[in-house]
Amino acid sequence: MKKEVVLSGIRPTGFLHLGNYFGAMRNYVRMQDEYNCYFFVADLHSLTTHPDTKELRNSVMRVIAENVACGLDPEKVALYVQSTVPEVSELYLYLNMLAYKGELEKTTTFKDKVRLQPDNVNAGLLTYPVLMAADILVHRAVKVPVGKDQEQHLEMTRNFAERFNHRYGEVFPLPQAFNYGTSLAKIMSLDGNGKMSKSENQMSTLYLADDDDLIRKKIMKAKTDSGPTEPNAEKPDYIENLFTLMGLVSSPDVLEKFNADFNNCVIRYGDMKKQLAEDMAKFIHPIREKAAAIQADKNLLDKIIRDGAEKARINTNATIKAVRDAIGVHYI
Ligand code: TRP
Repeated sequence: MKKEVVLSGIRPTGFLHLGNYFGAMRNYVRMQDEYNCYFFVADLHSLTTHPDTKELRNSVMRVIAENVACGLDPEKVALYVQSTVPEVSELYLYLNMLAYKGELEKTTTFKDKVRLQPDNVNAGLLTYPVLMAADILVHRAVKVPVGKDQEQHLEMTRNFAERFNHRYGEVFPLPQAFNYGTSLAKIMSLDGNGKMSKSENQMSTLYLADDDDLIRKKIMKAKTDSGPTEPNAEKPDYIENLFTLMGLVSSPDVLEKFNADFNNCVIRYGDMKKQLAEDMAKFIHPIREKAAAIQADKNLLDKIIRDGAEKARINTNATIKAVRDAIGVHYI
């Protein structure tokens, strides 16, 4: 049986952190054997919010290196950079003729960006969901691993696909959000304020590029309190988060011990954080080293990016041909 197509995009803004790892990358790694996977770095999307491109190339290389270091295998998946696949931009143009100004203006992420960057409300920002639809539809992908915040974009993608199919003939399947089971780990910021996200306070976010000492320092600073006052109490969010992290990187008996200590009101958060810091440093260390080695290997990066584009374009060329045929803009 032909494997289903899975596709996701990663914005090259900011450093990858533990929330990305457990919320997204680990999931991609698990999908690579079962599905026909396309993962790409969305460098064109970043131009809508980051017109200054001094850092762009570096960020793109780092994101690729970090994803490979986390276990994505460029032999198994197509790992590419968005701008190296020009069919995406061509499909974006056609889809723009099917997208209405009114629906684009109503998009939540657009309204957020208008508030964040009132001096640069460019047309690319407005049509961000159209470019994302082109990313997905150009591979005729059916499964798109994304977080909740991207679901509206996926719904718009389905609308554009349906409109296209209706107007010009069936070319696109309708893509759905997809995650393995329901057990995506939610990682909170170490200061207890919301999720560990790219733009949060740097000291409360654990980055895959952090060195051992910085990891220890951040964890030792994590928010705690004076401990539970009655047996088997409910854990406050920020304490639950430390246990979640421990569950992800420490051995089960260590987790069990601190859980029992918590339930018996004898827990010492200092000890718990020391243990967590050591286990976290051990966890991140090999990823950081591997990512750094890949990032320093220009030939390897060059090969990954070339092979990725080549693999992606087999698929995207076929789609663009079908799209041109359907629309009737095929002359040579
Ligand atoms: N918009 C996504 C984000 O902000 C990134 C992205 C771009 C994407 N194109 C995509 C995700 C296509 C999934 C599919 O995270």
